[in-house]
Amino acid sequence: MTNLLLAKPLIEDTLPKLKDLCSQMSSPPKMRVILVGENQASVTYVKHKEKQCEKIGALFDLVKLPLDISRDDFLQEIEKLNSDNSIHGGFVQLPLPKHLSDIDTTELIAPEKDVDGFGVESFIGLIKNNYERGFIPCTPKGIMTLFETENIDLTGKKATVIGRSLIVGKPMALLLQNAGATVTMCHSRTRNLKEHTLSADIIISAVGKTKFLNADYFQKDQSQVLIDVGMNRDEENKLCGDIDFESVKDNVKAITPVPGGVGPMTVLSLMENLVLAKQRQEGK
Ligand code: GUN
Repeated sequence: MTNLLLAKPLIEDTLPKLKDLCSQMSSPPKMRVILVGENQASVTYVKHKEKQCEKIGALFDLVKLPLDISRDDFLQEIEKLNSDNSIHGGFVQLPLPKHLSDIDTTELIAPEKDVDGFGVESFIGLIKNNYERGFIPCTPKGIMTLFETENIDLTGKKATVIGRSLIVGKPMALLLQNAGATVTMCHSRTRNLKEHTLSADIIISAVGKTKFLNADYFQKDQSQVLIDVGMNRDEENKLCGDIDFESVKDNVKAITPVPGGVGPMTVLSLMENLVLAKQRQEGK
């Protein structure tokens, strides 16, 4: 039988542990999120993050900025986030409106507060396989947690990552390599993608296209593990991933559903990073 890799049981198990850690601290960890405008998807993501903060007893501080905010005022908000000692972790919710979209906010957040793990210090950690200073980006971190919990051994396995973004594809490939997998990185220009999916033990798709991968891309002998990072809408406007779930689910060893798989794991990782940020800032 196919193993559904669900976030819910893992989250229910982990949140009380994080709550315990928070309650033992001198003060609760505090996260600040800067949101420009009211992009519907961003508002929804931010609400999820707020809810999880509440569940672990962390403070959540949302700074809502108008869509037409000036560059200077926007940059000043990041400065405030960085210099406020009562804030332990923070980030700018992406995407930004057009007039700000050339600003690389990932390099502006103080490294010790970079709970998204998008800054250069965090990347150096991935490259060195040393996570003492930076933070592991939340989506790849959540996927590694799923592998660990489900006892999916990565040593010597062939893993194919589709997507080369800084947020998912690149850090994912580094984490898999660090864990002993042999990694193939594919992307929109890859020729014969099927060759790379059919020959892998583990396939991670972070493409962002509805039903991008159907049953033809995978073995039918329940030997492969499929991780779907896609957050797309189908023809009925229902949330769906990159993989045509119905057509592959009986053929594979394990698969993450959308929704209920990778998405909530990302938010859980953010909570873990926030707690870690506070622990470090307390000198523990
Ligand atoms: N927009 C969509 N996902 C994310 C995320 O993980 N972090 C930030 N900062 N913005 C996002």
